[in-house]
Amino acid sequence: MHAIDVHLDADELSRALRTDVTTGLTTDPKSLPPKWFYDARGSELFEQITELREYYPTRTERQILTDRAADIARHTRATSLLELGSGYSTKTRLLLDALTATGTLETFVPMDVSPTALTAAADRITADYPGLRVHNVVGDMTRHLKHLPTGGDRLIAFLGGTIGNLVPAERAAFLADVRAVLEPGEHLLLGTDLVKSPSVVVPAYDDASGVTAEFNRNVLRVLNNSLDADFDLEGFAHVALWDPDHEWIEMRLRARWPMRVTIPGVDLVVDFAAGEEVRTEVSAKFRREGVERELAEAGFSLDHWWTDPDGLFALSLSTAVPQG
Ligand code: SAH
Ligand code: TRP
Repeated sequence: MHAIDVHLDADELSRALRTDVTTGLTTDPKSLPPKWFYDARGSELFEQITELREYYPTRTERQILTDRAADIARHTRATSLLELGSGYSTKTRLLLDALTATGTLETFVPMDVSPTALTAAADRITADYPGLRVHNVVGDMTRHLKHLPTGGDRLIAFLGGTIGNLVPAERAAFLADVRAVLEPGEHLLLGTDLVKSPSVVVPAYDDASGVTAEFNRNVLRVLNNSLDADFDLEGFAHVALWDPDHEWIEMRLRARWPMRVTIPGVDLVVDFAAGEEVRTEVSAKFRREGVERELAEAGFSLDHWWTDPDGLFALSLSTAVPQG
């Protein structure tokens, strides 16, 4: 059995989508927020990305978790594991196993905007971890953190480097929100992808088989399905650029030819010039000093910083410190 809290029902999701689309596509340059990639098909495509040869973050983070899960369990003795942007919670099982072995874990609370991924994950985890209370939260982690359950010793996990999908100002606000829901002494486990050669990073976001391109274009399919828009997906090329100043990958969709798109769901007609781009996502890459500073500014002290031997990815474990 698992409980579900829904903070984003179909109505609210649709309202939020309409606001984001109206703002994003009437502003120059055009942009769309990344959370709209993840309908059922988008969540499925992301799972395929995690298995691509070029996409190193998932397998690297999994290796770090394999090596460190027991340390994490011992250090936190968490009774409750809260996971943000949990998706299918595949790697999270390493934490569930370790916390179960330590004997402290009672509750698992995955939170995601994608009800499909969340429900599928919860069904499997409920079946595989008898005795664990699974409490799903359908919500937007940039808006609904305050609804997360309290009590016990909580560990918040935010994996996959998803924090890099927030721009710095959003990140600061988000980390402050995460800190605000925790009590001093509770923990945050954060996965961050690290700065490295663009020759390694760029292919991870532009794979040879085109899965990432399909994923990027999926946001247009979401608009076609939910707002009755008439985007011609063939008309948009996937672009992944390394921005050395911000140290992030920027994902865009570039119009191959001039297009006029009608979006009845928001009463909008949008023109695209040939070559015009829509920014769909950034994926920031980090350095230890920056992560440690951002965590400190939000009220966390870094206890552990673990990386793989090649220094591709880092997992950090921090404690919420008392706020002045
Ligand atoms: N944690 C998994 C999935 C990462 S993909 C992993 O490490 O592999 C990013 C996940 O965050 C997706 O499941 C997506 O649905 C979710 N997500 C994106 N924006 C979100 C938001 N604003 N609030 C909650 N979940 C979000
Ligand atoms: N959080 C993932 C990342 O930044 C999301 C992601 C992977 C992604 N590949 C993508 C988002 C391609 C958009 C397009 O690594």
